[in-house]
Amino acid sequence: MDFTKKTRECVQQIHPYVPGKPIEEVQRELGITSVIKMASNENPLGPSTEVRQALVHHLDKINYYPDANAFYLKEALAKELDVPAEMIVFGNGSDDVNKVLGETLLNPEDEVIIPQPTFSQYEYITLLMGAKPVFVRGEGLEHDLGAMLKAVTSKTKMVFICNPNNPTGTIVRKDELVRFLTALPKGITVVIDEAYGEFVTDPDFLSGLDCLKQGFTNVVVYRTFSKIYGLAGLRLGYAVADPTLTEQMNRVREPFNVNLLAQIAGIAALNSKMHLNLSKELVKSGRSYFYEQLDAMGVKYLQTQANFILIHCGKDSRDIYEFLLQNGIIVRATHSFGLPEYIRVTFGTAEQNERFFRVFKQTMSAESL
Ligand SMILES: Cc1ncc(COP(=O)(O)O)c(C=O)c1O
Repeated sequence: MDFTKKTRECVQQIHPYVPGKPIEEVQRELGITSVIKMASNENPLGPSTEVRQALVHHLDKINYYPDANAFYLKEALAKELDVPAEMIVFGNGSDDVNKVLGETLLNPEDEVIIPQPTFSQYEYITLLMGAKPVFVRGEGLEHDLGAMLKAVTSKTKMVFICNPNNPTGTIVRKDELVRFLTALPKGITVVIDEAYGEFVTDPDFLSGLDCLKQGFTNVVVYRTFSKIYGLAGLRLGYAVADPTLTEQMNRVREPFNVNLLAQIAGIAALNSKMHLNLSKELVKSGRSYFYEQLDAMGVKYLQTQANFILIHCGKDSRDIYEFLLQNGIIVRATHSFGLPEYIRVTFGTAEQNERFFRVFKQTMSAESL
């Protein structure tokens, strides 16, 4: 039987997720062993020593189900963020949290405002629930909160803000955000996805957590352990929201949606302050190095507050992406974001960054001949 036309109509509208290529796949396909991945905004330092030790210590407990309420992890995180534990909902990555929130809130026909370009999962959950994505593209590549406000109708249920945004690395400024939240009808839920929030150094950034603490109780903040904490493979993310919403989300989520090792690793990661600082420093020096090299090459890019950078290649970037791949460097071509002339590159270690530029310079000079 052919199922393609038998599925729910909304499922047929979903575009399959485009992930960064896994290292093993490139090794297998191209027969090269030394492959580096600068495609999925992971932490090149790996997990902290504290996390490694805690995982080894708890390995022989995986015959037991995990704590369905992630009690100890929640307590530790609540203390870290200075919020009540009942305002936190964990998920199998923040992707899972996003799905749970959509399943909790969205009805068919609801409108969801999604800035462009941005992370694909906001569109995914909107379509999955049979709701209607309302895409808003500003003049530049940054979120245009003014235009998003104008897109609000009586059917608007939810608005997404990705701060810093993937794939641009840009942030929404403090004043802009407060103005937006103040002007928006209070019954509309505002998701502020801060997957890259810990990397921000710009003092003009206002966290969604502060918005919540200032009384904007319609704000839901997403965060993740996949990026700065180096735990992408274990899948751990969370939302912080008003307790009346988290209580409903807890009804919807799968009971064991955070595995036992992820809970252990999360607690250890919160205690790994040195690793956290090293990760931040690595990104800061990565930014400066990329700016310096790209400026010297005369290549345009966006100033970034995240652990990656969006580079304008000046022409379709597919050949550049392929050349880098053939040389064992996986970056992200941004065609699926509607940006065919760009690549998105995650900052690596100093050595990886240098290797990237050795190859990138070759391909860019070959392109300009
Ligand atoms: C903006 C944004 N939000 C969420 C995620 C997903 O994070 P997680 O690994 O916690 O599911 C990503 C991953 O790339 C992202 O870029």
